[in-house]
Amino acid sequence: MSEMTLSTKPRIPPLDEARFLDVDLFGQELKANPAPYFTQWAKSPPFYAMVQGHAHVVISRHAQVQWALRTHDIISAVPHKGWGTDLFDYFNGLPLVVDYDPPEHSRVRRLMQPGFTPSRVAKIQPLIEGMVDELALAVAEKKTFDMVTEFAGPLMYRVLLGGVFEFDPEIWPIFINLSNALELVATVPPGAPKPAAYMEAFNAVHDFCGRLIEERRVAPKDDLVGTVIAAHDEKGSISIEELFSTLVQLFTAGLGTVTATSSNAVLRLLRHPDQLALLRADPSLLNKALEECMRIDCLGNFRHRFVVKEHVIDGTPIYPGMVAHMSLGAANYDPDKYPDPARFDITRDPRDILTFGFGPHLCPGNILARMVTRAIVGRLVFGFPHLRLAHPDDVIICGGMPTERFPTHVNLRVD
Ligand code: HEM
Repeated sequence: MSEMTLSTKPRIPPLDEARFLDVDLFGQELKANPAPYFTQWAKSPPFYAMVQGHAHVVISRHAQVQWALRTHDIISAVPHKGWGTDLFDYFNGLPLVVDYDPPEHSRVRRLMQPGFTPSRVAKIQPLIEGMVDELALAVAEKKTFDMVTEFAGPLMYRVLLGGVFEFDPEIWPIFINLSNALELVATVPPGAPKPAAYMEAFNAVHDFCGRLIEERRVAPKDDLVGTVIAAHDEKGSISIEELFSTLVQLFTAGLGTVTATSSNAVLRLLRHPDQLALLRADPSLLNKALEECMRIDCLGNFRHRFVVKEHVIDGTPIYPGMVAHMSLGAANYDPDKYPDPARFDITRDPRDILTFGFGPHLCPGNILARMVTRAIVGRLVFGFPHLRLAHPDDVIICGGMPTERFPTHVNLRVD
């Protein structure tokens, strides 16, 4: 990443105090109940907020977020060290596909495209439905279970590691350990070394990728890893870093996101019995219902970028040296796009939700993610007529990355 990482932070001129909001962007309060924040922000121009001693800018109107996500000459995806984003350095400085601007971005993204061809997604659909059925039988016997750790989470390990990567189960813990260690990154002070548990998990995946490349040189195979290696070999041999980065990004980007999104969707439906009844009365509403769940409970409250050129957005100046947070969560509450945005309405059929991003970095896994979420939520809602929260008054705690609304537990009953 050396040539990509720019380290000198430009001096930011004094900022207008009136444009600052005193808010902890990544705190539990916002994660637990973002609607009051989002309804306000979605009608307001960009504002400034302090993050670890740096002034960051937050952009939250739908059209402005879309503009920012495609205007990389002003708001770039390329990481700038020292600007105040250490808490998002999940992969120890390794270049990720989200870290590139066009045109380099398309070259890197093409390497992971084999994972998302329609034929690959179609091929694993029956496998996924079978896995969902198996888990549903298991929870039917248990009667009470945690949707996050006993249903959606284990399902996604199987979907990604078994279905997409086609790895044997004994390999899975290597990836699961790294995924579990990612949230440790946000716990260290800026500039401090990464925690030992994180580094151990990181090195284990790195070593595994090295072994995999060697193995595949001797015995090529026509699976996802084989296709990725072959795509690189057209231009030269793949490095351990490139394979590591491709696999780990696919895995970590897919695992928690679908787990959290489907858990949030079930929680939302159970807390709105009228909407749940409507869905059960007309199962053809499932797709619309899920889009509405993903609109109102967007997993990523924010995605960050780096301001590289001075500009004024809706009256708010932004300067090189600032980190910009696009609030996908707030943009989904923009009343110009979604009237009465805090109302959960499964017949709304919301278009252009920003839950999967926008522009060149639009989530390549969105078709797979929508398919798996539909399989999970559909199976639970239609397969268990008595599905309910095990402890209706439970306060849901959000863990996960600082920017995400990842519920740690959603306890359910099906008897
Ligand atoms: C409901 C589940 C999911 C949500 C909400 C989600 C959300 C997102 C968002 C918002 C972005 C854009 C990031 C940015 O612009 O900075 C993104 C990118 C990405 N997602 Fe997803 N995602 C989900 C599932 C998946 C799955 C299942 C996979 C793969 C198996 C995946 C792989 C990726 C990758 C590789 C990128 C980077 C693309 C790029 O930078 O060009 N995602 N995702």
